[in-house]
Amino acid sequence: DVLLKSEIPVVPPPSKSYVLGFSQLGSESTWREANTSSIVEAAEEAGISLMMRNAEQSQKKQFEAIRFFIRNNVDVIAIAPVVQYGWEPILKEVKQAGIPVIILDRSVNVKDSSLYVTFIGSDFYEEGVKAAKYMLDKMRHRTGTVKIAELQGTVGSTPSIDRGRGFRETIGTAPDFQVSLSQVADFTVAKGRKVMSQFLELPREEWPQVLFSHNDDMAIGAVEAIEEAGLRPGEDLVIISIDGTRRAFEQMKEGKINAVVECNPLLGPLLMQATNEIMAGRTLPKQMVPEEDIFTQEIASDEVEKRKY
Ligand code: AHR
Repeated sequence: DVLLKSEIPVVPPPSKSYVLGFSQLGSESTWREANTSSIVEAAEEAGISLMMRNAEQSQKKQFEAIRFFIRNNVDVIAIAPVVQYGWEPILKEVKQAGIPVIILDRSVNVKDSSLYVTFIGSDFYEEGVKAAKYMLDKMRHRTGTVKIAELQGTVGSTPSIDRGRGFRETIGTAPDFQVSLSQVADFTVAKGRKVMSQFLELPREEWPQVLFSHNDDMAIGAVEAIEEAGLRPGEDLVIISIDGTRRAFEQMKEGKINAVVECNPLLGPLLMQATNEIMAGRTLPKQMVPEEDIFTQEIASDEVEKRKY
């Protein structure tokens, strides 16, 4: 069962302070920085003592952090998993230690869902669907084949897998749309720029008319590469990305990005609330999804100042 954020009852903070061990996957993007800050601030506000480790994109480091939390006998462990697979054995270790687990941001692919209490994070498949729907509408008057370039995030990560799938399955029935270029760019500005400039070194007839970027940072890097190639981002190429950072909104306002699908990183308050509820012995829904939107160029000027990250 899925519960929207607005439907989750607000519970008063408990009198006892708990220790939350949190394995953050890295610091690759603006989204991630906002996510980390949100968790640090919310823990402080809730009076929860936070033990946080940054895994710098390494699943092995996440395992080490989790074993460190077990040794330190924390009350709850939260994990933002870098990749989707390989979690079953470590989650069994945590279960044996009797510590409840919250999966945050990226989901895990495990057969036994009792290995974690709840998952708090976005519906990445739906984000890919929203991006594709926008593109189909925006390009509806185009004739001939529309070539699409895709910048993928971290290999094996849930957002990259699900956004790509949601996007492809939505354009699946539209024969004139073709993902002709697709490369991994690790969710970073530098890689987005590098991969996009490689795309634009191809013969002109292979250049894409659309760029679908799995996050804003890669799209921002790609905008630089597109400008360097003498093209106009947002005009010669329709650009759609995911996250909704302030920087991406500024570029939308300037007409360089056409649409941004929101992915909310401000999960700290919900994580602390879930921690308190678990410790109070309450049952939580298996999945909690923040409310999210899609924003287009037309409304970017009105929205940019409201962005919190
Ligand atoms: O898991 C969420 C994704 O990870 C965000 O879209 C991206 O910016 C981040 O690095």
